[in-house]
Amino acid sequence: MRILIATASRHGSTREIGQWLGSEISARLADTASSDTASPDTVDVRDAADVDNIAEYDAVVIGSAVYMGRWLGDARSLVDREQSELETRPVWLFSSGPIGGSTPSATKSKWSEASWAVEHKVFGGKLDRSTLSLFERAVVRMINAGDGDDRSRAEVDEWAGAICGNLAASASGLR
Ligand SMILES: Cc1cc2nc3c(=O)[nH]c(=O)nc-3n(C[C@H](O)[C@H](O)[C@H](O)COP(=O)(O)O)c2cc1C
Repeated sequence: MRILIATASRHGSTREIGQWLGSEISARLADTASSDTASPDTVDVRDAADVDNIAEYDAVVIGSAVYMGRWLGDARSLVDREQSELETRPVWLFSSGPIGGSTPSATKSKWSEASWAVEHKVFGGKLDRSTLSLFERAVVRMINAGDGDDRSRAEVDEWAGAICGNLAASASGLR
């Protein structure tokens, strides 16, 4: 099985969630792989901007940081470009944004209720004002958001487990 995890991130924290997810899914697949499997499972973690198409993947996870209530353009355009392919395989979506309840509501993007996605998960975000542009700092000041890291690796690992469970159940249904 080939799994793609594609993320859109401006300051790196959503990319890191994608990397956590990738290593946990890889570890879990390696634990359950049988020795007679001809081709090993692979998990590719990539920036959404670098993904031309998803045709070679059996399952896809797409995540984006949320800025001003929207997903970043690279994630939105990947979904728009690959919409018909996404509808033919298991897809999970995640958003990363809220910090300490001080950022605007956790808008999940226009695909919040996407019928073609298994689930759309919201993870907390990370804010470090020293890395922001002047414009971003002004926005953050306006909404009174403070620095913090509300991402939870345990929560990401748990979600990776749910994804692997779902994939295993679908695979055994096909046998
Ligand atoms: C200018 C600005 C606007 C933001 N707008 C939102 C928002 O609308 N909703 C939200 O949940 N988080 C918002 N955030 C928080 C970011 O989504 C959060 O910092 C996220 O972890 C950034 O991810 P990245 O490091 O991958 O870019 C905003 C942050 C900044 C700096």
